[in-house]
Amino acid sequence: MSYKDQIDLFKLPEHIAIIMDGNGRWAKGKGKLRIFGHHNGVLSVRDVVEGGVDLGLKYLTLYTFSSENWNRPKLEVMAIMELMVSTIHKEIRNFMEKNVRLNAIGDLDMLPKKCYDELQNAIKTTAGNTGLTMTLALSYSSRREIVSAAKNIAQQVKSGEIDIDDINEELFGHNLYTSDMPDPELLIRTSGEYRISNYLLWQIAYAELYFTPKLWPDFRKEDLFEAIMDYQKRERRFGMTSEQVN
Ligand code: IPE
Ligand code: IPE
Ligand code: MG
Repeated sequence: MSYKDQIDLFKLPEHIAIIMDGNGRWAKGKGKLRIFGHHNGVLSVRDVVEGGVDLGLKYLTLYTFSSENWNRPKLEVMAIMELMVSTIHKEIRNFMEKNVRLNAIGDLDMLPKKCYDELQNAIKTTAGNTGLTMTLALSYSSRREIVSAAKNIAQQVKSGEIDIDDINEELFGHNLYTSDMPDPELLIRTSGEYRISNYLLWQIAYAELYFTPKLWPDFRKEDLFEAIMDYQKRERRFGMTSEQVN
């Protein structure tokens, strides 16, 4: 029996975030160059998105390229950007068929123009889709996002738009890149690393964390379903006692 049949669709998380890690090690294990791993990682993305669509998931946010990843060898960075351009271009049709809306968060201005344009084109083309919202975190740093929110808010106070006492968690959240989506209930990281790597620090305050040793190019929709199953077995207490939440 597939994990999918065991998932309670009434208790589906609305938003799942994934740190797609392990492409390089996967390729190395096969005696290939790191970029071979990134290419195969795209196949996992396609399959996982399909799985999300099958379930009726609302939001899927994928850590695709961090601000820190700019420090990798230039050749790898360039190859990833090229891969992004060709993948986004090819996937638009698929997104339209599956009613997927593409979205992106991060310092998008840092992307090479070709990549930025392709991305904006895909975002515009899929803007009217009402199924899954798939967000790519690109050139993304959570700390930068938080600093940028703080600056926005300071600006609004300075201009008299808001009062200092208007600043609360809700207002702060509205000034983040993710203002139009709920916080992820489930965060998945592949490749056996137990860290967050500057991803959605504010938003995952109460997310359930799921770590798997599988490398990203080996991760498929069935693995996503397994993670959701695991999530559904947990008791989310939000600081309360077990008796209170039951
Ligand atoms: C994740 O895989 C993809 C990106 C960070 C772009 P890695 O490239 O980090 O693969 P490992 O962690 O070195 O195996
Ligand atoms: C995190 O993976 C970023 C992405 C998956 C895009 P990294 O491979 O860059 O993370 P660290 O450096 O090992 O923490
Ligand atoms: Mg890595």
